[in-house]
Amino acid sequence: MSTASDALEAVGRPAGLLWLEIDTTPDDPPEPLVARWSAVLSTAERERAAAFHHDRDRWTYLASHHRLRTVLGHCSGRAPESLEFVAAPCPTCGEPHGRPELAGLPTLRFSLSHSHSRFAVAAATVAVGIDVEELDSIPYGKDLDALIAGLHPAEVSELGSLPEPERRAGLLTCWTRKEAWLKGRGVGLAEGLDTTAVGVGEVRQPSGWQIIDVPTTTADHGCALALAISA
Ligand SMILES: CC(C)(COP(=O)(O)OP(=O)(O)OC[C@H]1O[C@@H](n2cnc3c(N)ncnc32)[C@H](O)[C@@H]1OP(=O)(O)O)[C@@H](O)C(=O)NCCC(=O)NCCS
Repeated sequence: MSTASDALEAVGRPAGLLWLEIDTTPDDPPEPLVARWSAVLSTAERERAAAFHHDRDRWTYLASHHRLRTVLGHCSGRAPESLEFVAAPCPTCGEPHGRPELAGLPTLRFSLSHSHSRFAVAAATVAVGIDVEELDSIPYGKDLDALIAGLHPAEVSELGSLPEPERRAGLLTCWTRKEAWLKGRGVGLAEGLDTTAVGVGEVRQPSGWQIIDVPTTTADHGCALALAISA
């Protein structure tokens, strides 16, 4: 997906969605580009970036946070570097480590996801979650079956009958849908993946939410978006 407007058109511009894009971090970004990414980030973000062991993870973190700030600056009319992120209370335990929000701008909702060199950004006027995953992240054999066993029984049964290549692709679809929905609600993976079925083929829509498979340009990654039906 090359531009935000392509991605928005591809999902049919659902109500409340302001921005959607999937992008890739360059393999060996020149130093001036890395410096440009860093320049808009907070001290905390720069410290987090510096802690990554692998260059690729650091670059993807920097590029995705730069892009997120640029998008949110565009949507809010504020300077990207002036935006302050705070963690909402965790819906599971109440501690302040829930989903990131914008200080002073709680109605501009957003979600960020990264996987290897790929990242996705969504912004909306309703609660939103996005997840992008590389097919390479999905294991084979016993590890694949162990991951599938943790899903809802209806999904286990949908996936169980498929040959391995289709089972891996099916898990990618199901996983991105579920993680996008969990992130949209701010709960993360702690809730467990077996409580609600989102399906492998046709999407099973959880009450109050719309989950959308975001079309990708290549089959080596999957992406899903979850939007609350009302604010
Ligand atoms: C949120 C979560 C699903 C993200 O998983 P991941 O594999 O890192 O996936 P992604 O790359 O798609 O998403 C990362 C982004 O999600 C966002 N995020 C973090 N916590 C979030 C939450 N609770 N809800 C929604 N989004 C969240 C951040 O923007 C983060 O980006 P950053 O790490 O660059 O700051 C995972 O970290 C998680 O489950 N966290 C909650 C853990 C938890 O429940 N702890 C116990 C609570 S008592």
